[in-house]
Amino acid sequence: MKYDIKNIKLAKKGALRIEWASNNMPVLRMIEERFKKELPLKGLRVAACLHVTTETGVLMEVLKSGGAEIYLCASNPLSTQDDVAASLAANLKISVFSIKGENTKTYYKHMQSALAAKPHITMDDGADLVSTIHQRPESMHSNIIGGTEETTTGVIRLRALAEQGKLRYPIIAVNDALTKHLFDNRYGTGQSTLDGIIRATNDLVAGSNFVVCGYGWCGKGVAMRAKGLGARVIVTEIDPLRGLEATLDGFDVMPIKDAAKVGDIFVTVTGDINVIRAEHFKTMKDGAIVSNSGHFNVELDLPGLAKLSKKRRYIREFVEEFTLRNGRKVNILGEGRLINLAAAEGHPAQVMDMSFANQALSAEYMAKNYRKLKKTVFKVPDDIDKNIAKLKLKSMGISIDILTPEQKKYLASWEMGT
Ligand code: ADE
Repeated sequence: MKYDIKNIKLAKKGALRIEWASNNMPVLRMIEERFKKELPLKGLRVAACLHVTTETGVLMEVLKSGGAEIYLCASNPLSTQDDVAASLAANLKISVFSIKGENTKTYYKHMQSALAAKPHITMDDGADLVSTIHQRPESMHSNIIGGTEETTTGVIRLRALAEQGKLRYPIIAVNDALTKHLFDNRYGTGQSTLDGIIRATNDLVAGSNFVVCGYGWCGKGVAMRAKGLGARVIVTEIDPLRGLEATLDGFDVMPIKDAAKVGDIFVTVTGDINVIRAEHFKTMKDGAIVSNSGHFNVELDLPGLAKLSKKRRYIREFVEEFTLRNGRKVNILGEGRLINLAAAEGHPAQVMDMSFANQALSAEYMAKNYRKLKKTVFKVPDDIDKNIAKLKLKSMGISIDILTPEQKKYLASWEMGT
């Protein structure tokens, strides 16, 4: 077993924090009990490229109890929790390659270390692992039977690969499960993004003009939580339906060129490139706070901002202050990387419980069914998705109604009307 982490001595702290997360991940723990008996992943090597957090630590325990041999690297250079990496290496004997703050070269070197194990299954968050594999000769990865993908950005990249007919093995889009994006993207990103901004700045959200770029499930969550903290929320969008939805949800909707002039705090959650550009930074208020919570650090045009600036310095951890030639200051949080994982701890365990239950069950599904699957991007099977919702409700002590035979019949008929 090999590893490359910050400091193995952090293992004790990491183990306690993983235990704390595990206490709030009852669905994963139920899966773990079954995996221990059935060993559905026995003999399989899994290369996982995920944010190395306490919640990921719990997922690693579950996969290992299912018989998998795991090789873990980070899916973002800034999201690793070094104590978690240490605990996984020291206590779970997992090969971990990730260090918070690693540069791009080390990030890819770590990915190569995970891939050197010749995995059977890939578990990705953002599709960097799959993209790396697909830029190498196919013969280097002939062991791979299938994969899973955690996030919207990754699913978009994989669909592009599949549409070009180049995807080499089947992949399950965990992100698209209802028990993933309705909760993780909305409530997880909503809370953890505000948490990241507040931990980085200690700024008062109440009374601020809070600009949310993008009104997908993540944007909806961020806008909802900013409103809850007393902000005046402005939404920017490129999609007319979402723009309309944000308007009817009670938010001001306007183009970024107008929002740039009035915003106090900005968050991008679009999944697209250069959403806030030099022409926008130029018109911002003095002291504006600008962050990104989308997967990649491409949503803010930071090279463009650097060109406008005469000085830059770190004024707090995770806050880089750019002084523009017009004299105004713009503060960029967490190098424009996803602020919820850079400055805070990512989504709470309660939502990651469902996201990672989808990961564990999709890996099991892939192990059992890969021979039947085409080389394309699949949905998480509906019965898995529904079952996770059922188990989550059960773990919360919440019961719901069941249809009476009469109601069932009514829903299956067309005769009865007015
Ligand atoms: N993505 C967002 N939050 C996360 C978390 N807590 N763990 C792993 N991946 C995440």
